[in-house]
Amino acid sequence: LRLAVLASGRGSNLQAIADAIAAGDLAAELVGVFSDKPGAFALERARRLGVHALAVRPRDFASRPAHDEHLFSQIDAVCPDVIVCAGYMRLLSEPVVTARQGRIINIHPSLLPAFKGLHTHQQALDAGAGVHGASVHYVTPELDGGPVVTQVRVPVEPGDDAERLAQRVLAQEHPLLLATLRLLATGRVQLAGSAHGSRVELD
Ligand code: GRF
Repeated sequence: LRLAVLASGRGSNLQAIADAIAAGDLAAELVGVFSDKPGAFALERARRLGVHALAVRPRDFASRPAHDEHLFSQIDAVCPDVIVCAGYMRLLSEPVVTARQGRIINIHPSLLPAFKGLHTHQQALDAGAGVHGASVHYVTPELDGGPVVTQVRVPVEPGDDAERLAQRVLAQEHPLLLATLRLLATGRVQLAGSAHGSRVELD
């Protein structure tokens, strides 16, 4: 499984993928790491790993679609089977997503469809949720709206603040993402459907 990773920040999910590959726990190859932020630590991790690392800055382009088209032309050049958004903090424009539907996944720190968007841990606390967690879903043009592939539940504990909760969720995100990539590597799970609705199918 050839993997490209899109990340805007710290890149702990990227590191978890790299560590699993190195340990022989994930039959995959990291073929590129891409970011909208030249200073993203994820890019530094990629360089240390000897993986192709590239930042494409939005401000160098006239529009969001123009930025996305260039970014994804660079991603296509490394021929990934799956593109993993792991802390990529920009909304992807519809044409780049539609052209690669079923090949882009995202890890999101909530039990979707609850708490889309930003500040999910604070959203969960504000809602008084007893259980929180993380989801891996296929990316469709709707923000955090594509079909869910896998989820992990993380209980909210008394005294949790957003930071503490985020830490416990993140610790579960890494194994969740690895398990999901192993599942995708089997080729048995795929995105099915049309513009009118999509779903995950397991054969
Ligand atoms: C994770 O919580 C992920 O779910 C969210 O952004 C964070 C990225 O963390 N989309 P990292 O950059 O992989 O450490």
